[in-house]
Amino acid sequence: MVAYKLLDLPGFENLEGLIINLQTMITVNHLTYTYPGNTQPTIKGVNFSLGKGEILGFLGPSGAGKSTTQKILIKLLPGFSGEISIMGKSLNHWDETYYQHIGVGFELPNHYQKLTALENLRFFASFYPKAKRNLMEFLAMVGLEDAANKRVEDFSKGMQMRLNFIRALIHDPEIIFLDEPTSGLDPVNARIMKDIIRDLKMKGKTIFLTTHNMHDAEELCDRVAFMIDGEIRLIDQPKALKHTYGSRTVTVEYQNGNLNQEEFQLDGLIKNQGFVDILSKYKLESIHSKEASLEDIFIQTTGRQLQ
Ligand SMILES: Nc1ncnc2c1ncn2[C@@H]1O[C@H](COP(=O)(O)OP(=O)(O)OP(=O)(O)O)[C@@H](O)[C@H]1O
Ligand SMILES: [Mg+2]
Repeated sequence: MVAYKLLDLPGFENLEGLIINLQTMITVNHLTYTYPGNTQPTIKGVNFSLGKGEILGFLGPSGAGKSTTQKILIKLLPGFSGEISIMGKSLNHWDETYYQHIGVGFELPNHYQKLTALENLRFFASFYPKAKRNLMEFLAMVGLEDAANKRVEDFSKGMQMRLNFIRALIHDPEIIFLDEPTSGLDPVNARIMKDIIRDLKMKGKTIFLTTHNMHDAEELCDRVAFMIDGEIRLIDQPKALKHTYGSRTVTVEYQNGNLNQEEFQLDGLIKNQGFVDILSKYKLESIHSKEASLEDIFIQTTGRQLQ
């Protein structure tokens, strides 16, 4: 069982001690992987688990090993060491029926370019006895219904990404792996994808996603793992990370002949004499409060930039 706090759910903010147990879908212990021909491992002793209905985000700079981890989990890269258990069964013991239970959105779309969007979906659906019949509905979910009969070679990158995304869902999988699902999408389409991902979670789907985008991670993920150089440096709920590492500050702009700016800690602000003095003596221009972003915390805890 995966135990975790309900801190991120509205209404539960003050119940930090409340723990719920989730049915474990993925357990990874001491995962290490070296690409053939390399001398050094790309993944170095990674541990994590995912409960049913949970979204775990892997965050890290380019080359950290996020996609490699996903490829191992979807059984594309054999020869790893450590243990991976999926739905209670060792990954090594899963045969091709594994693919009936998982949906995969690759980092780079790999469609049949000469086929239309609908033909691509039909082709992939043919591998899955459980695949949904209403493929047009999937296209409509991501605004591609009018492009259903267009060849994919005429699609923009964003359209290919959207098709890639729904292709992962047509067989109603229990676990969904999404590699950079919003990369290259305009804000409107990124929003649509994020809403669908949240919907899938509400339906109890378990979602492993990788991203460079801290805002997406913060918005979507129950927990995030910071990955650097093949290691997980930190794994926790976004809100808990902010609670532990983020300082909340207030920036005050005021006039005393010149325009001045000062920053104060939000906690205990009313007792802060410097702040009170500014309020009573000077003309205020603006007051802004600021919470540390996940990106600030990433830099603070790993010493590295995300990009
Ligand atoms: N087929 C391969 N053979 C050898 N090395 C590889 C192979 N694929 C990836 N690598 C190396 O493994 C490391 C991790 O790559 P990976 O694609 O997992 O990173 P990532 O975190 O997904 O990065 P990005 O954010 O750019 O997608 C990189 O140093 C990469 O060069
Ligand atoms: Mg990648």
